[in-house]
Amino acid sequence: MAKSFDVLVVGELNVDMILDNIDGFPKVGTEILAQELTVTLGSSSAIFASNLSSMGKSVAFVGLTGNDDFANLVKKSLQEKNVNTDCIIASEKHNTGLTMVMNYGMDRANVTFPGAMEHLEEADITDEMLLSAKHLHLSSIFLQKKLKDQAHNLFKRAKKLGLSTSMDPQWDPSEEWVLNLEELLPNIDFLLPNQVEFNNITNSTSLTSGIEKIKPYSNSIVIKDGINGAHLWHNGDLLTKPAFVNEDVVDCIGAGDSFDAGFVCGFIDGLDLERCVELGNAMGAINTMEAGGTKSFKNLEHIKKVVMDKFNFTF
Ligand SMILES: Nc1ncnc2c1ncn2[C@@H]1O[C@H](COP(=O)(O)OP(=O)(O)O)[C@@H](O)[C@H]1O
Ligand SMILES: [Mg+2]
Repeated sequence: MAKSFDVLVVGELNVDMILDNIDGFPKVGTEILAQELTVTLGSSSAIFASNLSSMGKSVAFVGLTGNDDFANLVKKSLQEKNVNTDCIIASEKHNTGLTMVMNYGMDRANVTFPGAMEHLEEADITDEMLLSAKHLHLSSIFLQKKLKDQAHNLFKRAKKLGLSTSMDPQWDPSEEWVLNLEELLPNIDFLLPNQVEFNNITNSTSLTSGIEKIKPYSNSIVIKDGINGAHLWHNGDLLTKPAFVNEDVVDCIGAGDSFDAGFVCGFIDGLDLERCVELGNAMGAINTMEAGGTKSFKNLEHIKKVVMDKFNFTF
């Protein structure tokens, strides 16, 4: 069967409302002013989907928003990145999620209202949606509370239907880190956490002890490790690919999501896994050259040129 999409992304969707140059942190019972306001698409899943699409892959998104103006902003922003939004569901019961970011000098305070994202269910992701894509990627499982306990079934269905699969767990705001790894991991081809997330979900203090714990039911694990690059555990071997040196880091927002986009892009193109990790590292590094998670990712030609000029990396 011809596939309409390379990748189906299941993830959280929210708007970021960013207040800059505020006069101080707000105190209860007082009012202060901010000098700048930005209202933009947030969510790591959206950064992943947008950047993978900018790399030339066809990407569809499944998520739950409210039926409100913020949902329109979310959809429009994804569509501008050529991400298909037909499977985004507008809930009549819940509002679109929102993060209020207050930047004060180098410090920030965030307040997140999860809203609709917590209510996406496995049943919302139909077989028809799964069959439309070659690969399923799920991100931010801890923010999607209902889906968290059902995700093992989603991955099981996806594997049965012939898709390859990946998951980036992302941070758990509750810091409880409870996942049913025994049921989840056998149907996840690539688990893509960062080092701290990996230690937390495996309840370990090191890479090797974490791998020992989950290797009976895990396939391949890629652990992102900031300026140290990334570690690949596959077929019993552990190897590390160093990060690309970037002296001009603007910020690291979304670096892990861009890494995931590079890795999954390479996998879909049939590259060997070491090369996929290198491509992930290159996309993580280019991400850090501009503010936020998507600015560096204009189109494939531009991405190729920047990583060639800056890091002498070709793909
Ligand atoms: N300062 C940096 N210089 C170069 N590459 C970086 C830098 N920070 C992150 N990266 C790349 O981005 C990837 C993801 O970053 P990391 O911080 O580990 O993940 P996350 O954003 O999920 O916390 C790293 O594995 C690395 O390849
Ligand atoms: Mg991350």
